[in-house]
Amino acid sequence: MKQDYRHALVFGLERGLLNLPSDADRWAMFNAVPLPHAPSGLISALVCEQPFRPLFQELQKAGYQVEPVLADRLQDGYGAVIVCAGRDRRVNEFNIVRAWNWCKTGGSVIIAGDKTSGISSLRKWAARFGNIADSFSKFHAMVFTVVKRGSEDIELPMLERSADGYEMAEGMFSADGPDTGSSMLANHFSDRISGRVADLGAGWGFLSVELLRRSGRIASLSLFEADWHALEAAKRNLKTATCDLEFHWCDVTSEFRKTPYDWVVMNPPFHTGRAADPELGKRFIAVAASTLPAGGKLLMVANRNLPYEQTLDAMFRGYEILETGNGFKVIEARK
Ligand SMILES: C[S@@+](CC[C@H](N)C(=O)[O-])C[C@H]1O[C@@H](n2cnc3c(N)ncnc32)[C@H](O)[C@@H]1O
Repeated sequence: MKQDYRHALVFGLERGLLNLPSDADRWAMFNAVPLPHAPSGLISALVCEQPFRPLFQELQKAGYQVEPVLADRLQDGYGAVIVCAGRDRRVNEFNIVRAWNWCKTGGSVIIAGDKTSGISSLRKWAARFGNIADSFSKFHAMVFTVVKRGSEDIELPMLERSADGYEMAEGMFSADGPDTGSSMLANHFSDRISGRVADLGAGWGFLSVELLRRSGRIASLSLFEADWHALEAAKRNLKTATCDLEFHWCDVTSEFRKTPYDWVVMNPPFHTGRAADPELGKRFIAVAASTLPAGGKLLMVANRNLPYEQTLDAMFRGYEILETGNGFKVIEARK
């Protein structure tokens, strides 16, 4: 395993470099990840929040107490809240403010992140709340602590947004409004799409809403999405839908249960963390192929340079590129 902020955090905790609360305190961890060789006692003292299903499952397997969203800020406050910085700056700021509000006076907000996640500028930003204590760099990462002063809450930054009549939020895919590739795909939706339909990696529901807008022949629509917040937004965006709806918070690559859909639509993910990972898109194609019965159709969009043709060739009876443009390709495949 590459050494990163997780190792730096454990290093700081073990060496006493961080201003730790007493044993009796409860701790929380936002955007939690399993820690390598975590100090004994830490896992049982921690309550974790992780809305991304694959990481949620990793935490569960490693024995952590974890919820997709923590609702309980504790009457007396947490002794410490660890914030793992992710790739979205506004979400990091949101989590730091929430950690501050959830800490008891004198408690520690401990922030850890890789240098590539903009942790240095986050440290400057966090200095507005109080003195930065216990700051160190290690393993291409930085860890620092802000000690909570006073008992007043700080107003949380707004993450929710709306665009073109849809609801979404910072941190989700296409948080500024419909994605160009997804919009291209939606232009191929019509009444010919009918019956039972699955939307894999549904995000905040753009493709599903467009399907229902452009086809009156959909009997049921099942949305599968790993990001808890995006799926909650999809529920809001589909609140007026009249067909049967199912929402599954799941990792499509590991938890999908085969069902005979008539159609699958998707704009599959192709990033794991920050790194491009076309294998992820290929796994989505394999799941679509495995769930569609003979004659079932897959309609998808992908970045033009992603190498999905071989996988489609191997797993479908045939496929056609319906459109290319703006760096994307829209593909229809038949099982
Ligand atoms: C390219 S986005 C498409 C979102 C939406 N369908 C649209 O067109 O706007 C891919 C989506 O897949 C989700 N995703 C990533 N990995 C996943 C996984 N393993 N299982 C399920 N969904 C996943 C992401 O959270 C993201 O919302």
